[in-house]
Amino acid sequence: MRKNIVAGNWKMNNGLIQTETLISELKQQTKTSNAEVMIAPTFTNLWHAFQSTRQDDIEVVAQNMHFAENGAYTGEVSASMLKSIGIQTVILGHSERRAYFNETDESLAQKVDAALEHDMRIVFCFGEELSDRKSGNEEAVVESQIKKALFHLDASAYKNIVLAYEPVWAIGTGETASPEQAQDMHAFIRKTLESKYGHTIADDMTILYGGSVKPGNAKEIFSKPDVDGGLIGGAALKAEDFYAIVNAF
Ligand code: PGA
Repeated sequence: MRKNIVAGNWKMNNGLIQTETLISELKQQTKTSNAEVMIAPTFTNLWHAFQSTRQDDIEVVAQNMHFAENGAYTGEVSASMLKSIGIQTVILGHSERRAYFNETDESLAQKVDAALEHDMRIVFCFGEELSDRKSGNEEAVVESQIKKALFHLDASAYKNIVLAYEPVWAIGTGETASPEQAQDMHAFIRKTLESKYGHTIADDMTILYGGSVKPGNAKEIFSKPDVDGGLIGGAALKAEDFYAIVNAF
């Protein structure tokens, strides 16, 4: 079933005290929409965030994980480690991971498999760069990212997957894709899924848009029929702004 989801990606922001403060501010907000709410603090604060939101309508999710189960991978965190502290969902393939940490479609496919082996939910991110859009290649790039990381999966895996289309040129830049650009790409993503997995899986897929979503533009973006929610960076760091977006449905 398609859901509305608003996920806050905190990126490398907020130490323990700021995490506590932001969570208590989030808890004071009123939710008037049916959207599921996720927040993704950094690894060191996941346990604390998980504990302090247990009674609330907020899911704490991870920003990344390694594909191996355990072993000599200094500095990395595995799916089973996340599960061991109660984390059920992981964001994979964020463009910052791809750009700064050399994550490739192939290594992301391994991470997807590892997360699914642990029955985790995945928010899988992808999106074209500005040069791709300028040269009219945005659909080809997105199609290739989806196929390479996800098309080896059985249809049954898709109940654990949420997609997040994030055009790289719109992330943290203040420049948003127009609601029409988002809608066109989301419809294309559904068509791509349908070509391999059929209508039901494509139609049921939750597809988020990410890239400079703010309280002022969320309503218009979320009003598009194929946009099911948002992955929010900057605006997720302010409780009022984040809930204005959550309540934009
Ligand atoms: P932004 O980030 O909302 O700050 O553009 C979105 C994201 O990176 O997920």
